[in-house]
Amino acid sequence: MVKVFLVAGARPNFMKIAPIYAEMKKYPEWFEPIIVHTGQHYDERMSKIFFEDLKMPKPHIYLGVGSGTHAHQTAQIMIAFEEILLKYRPDLVLVVGDVNSTIACSLVAAKIRYPETRNHPAIGHVEAGLRSFDRDMPEEANRVLTDHLSDILFTTCSDGGKNLAHEGIPAEKVVFVGNVMIDSLVQFLPLARSSTVLDDLNRTFSERLREPLQEKAFALATLHRPSNVDSSESLSMILEAFAEISRDVPIVFPMHPRTQKLMKGLPDKTRRAIDQNPVLITDPLGYLDFLFLEQAAKLVLTDSGGVQEETSFLNIPCLTLRPNTERPITLTEGTNRLVPLEKEAIIDFAGKSLNGTVKQARSIRFWDGRAAERMVAYLEANRERFI
Ligand code: UD1
Ligand code: UDP
Repeated sequence: MVKVFLVAGARPNFMKIAPIYAEMKKYPEWFEPIIVHTGQHYDERMSKIFFEDLKMPKPHIYLGVGSGTHAHQTAQIMIAFEEILLKYRPDLVLVVGDVNSTIACSLVAAKIRYPETRNHPAIGHVEAGLRSFDRDMPEEANRVLTDHLSDILFTTCSDGGKNLAHEGIPAEKVVFVGNVMIDSLVQFLPLARSSTVLDDLNRTFSERLREPLQEKAFALATLHRPSNVDSSESLSMILEAFAEISRDVPIVFPMHPRTQKLMKGLPDKTRRAIDQNPVLITDPLGYLDFLFLEQAAKLVLTDSGGVQEETSFLNIPCLTLRPNTERPITLTEGTNRLVPLEKEAIIDFAGKSLNGTVKQARSIRFWDGRAAERMVAYLEANRERFI
C-alpha cells in the first residue's frame, strides 16, 4: 500500500488534485491518498466551495498557514509540513502546479529523512516542465525548483518534456500523462451546464444592464497577477479598457481577493468608468458557476494560467493580458492570444475577437479527461519504487 500526500493550497490546485484523489480511491488495496491543504487560500470562495463543487472530502490535514510575504508564507508552510511528514510518513508526496505551497512542500520532502530508513518520500510534480522564461513571475522560480527536486515529473504537453530535457532532467523521470485540470473540466462540465449563475447575475445587476445577460453575449474576465493588479496604474489601465469593451458586450468579472484589495486605491476616473458601464464585479465564483460562464462566454479576458487551458479546451476565444505564457500550446493549438499591456491594444484585440473571425482550437493530446487514470496506472505499475 502506497501512502500518498496530495498537496493543495491555492484555488487552481483543487481542480488538479480532485481527479487524482478520485482515481486513487478506486484502488484501496494499492493507495491511501491523504489530502493536505496548506491553507494558502482560505476564504470560503477560494477554498471550501471547491471541495463541495468537486465532490472531494474535506482535507484530511489542514495546515492553516494563510497569507504573508513569499518568505513568510513559504516558511510557515515548510515548518507545518515537516511536522506532518514526520507524523504520517507518506511514501509519496504529490504536489501540483506552481504556487508557494508547491515549492514549500517539495523542498521539505526532498530534505527530510525518516529516522528509521534515512529515506525521504518520493516527490511527484504534477504539471511539470511549464516555463514562461520570465523570472519576474514568482511562479517561475517555484516551477523550476520543484521540477529539479522531484523524482517523477508528470507533464501535460510535449513542450513540458522538451523544457525538462533541456534543463538536464533525465528522461526516465518524466512521464507524459496529460492535463488533470482538463479531467475535472470534462467530468464537471455536464453538471456546470445546469448552473443558474446567469439568472443570479441578472437579478443582482438588473439596474446596470440594458438587457439581461445571455449566452454568447457577454465577456468573462479574471485578473490576479501581481504585475497587473499590484500597481494602481496598471489595474486602472486594464479596468478602463474593460469599461470601453463593455460598451460592446457586458463583462462579468469575478474578482480575486488580491485584486479586490487593490480596488480601494483606484483613481475616481477609473471608478466612474467601471460604474457607468456594465463591468459587473462579483466575488470569486465556485467552480461550477465559473465553468458555466466560461463555456457560455463570447470572449474571455484573463491573466490566469488555468483559464488559458480551459478556454482552449472549450474553444472559447481567450485574450491573455500578459507578455508571455508558460502554456504556449494554448497559443499554437488553442484559442489563446497574448495581448500587449496597453489600453488601446486591449480594446483593439477584444474588438477583433468579438467582431472578426475567431481562432478555432485543435484537440490537444491527452487533454481528454483521462490524465489521472494514466498517472495512477503509472504509479501502480512502479509502486515498488515508493515502498
Ligand atoms: C496565488 C499563486 C498564484 C496563483 C494564484 C491562484 C503564489 C506565489 N501565487 O496567488 O501563482 O495563480 O494563487 O489564485 O503562490 N487572499 C485573501 N483570501 C484568500 C487568499 C488570498 O484575501 O483566501 C488575499 C490576501 O490578501 C493575500 C493575497 O490575496 O495576501 C494574495 O494571496 P497569495 O496566496 O499570496 O497569492 P495569490 O495572488 O492568491
Ligand atoms: N476559477 C473559479 N472561480 C473563479 C475564477 C476561476 O472556479 O472565480 C477556476 C478556473 O475555472 C480554473 C482555476 O480557477 O479552474 C484557475 O485558478 P486561478 O486563475 O486562480 O489560478 P492560476 O491558474 O492562474 O494559477
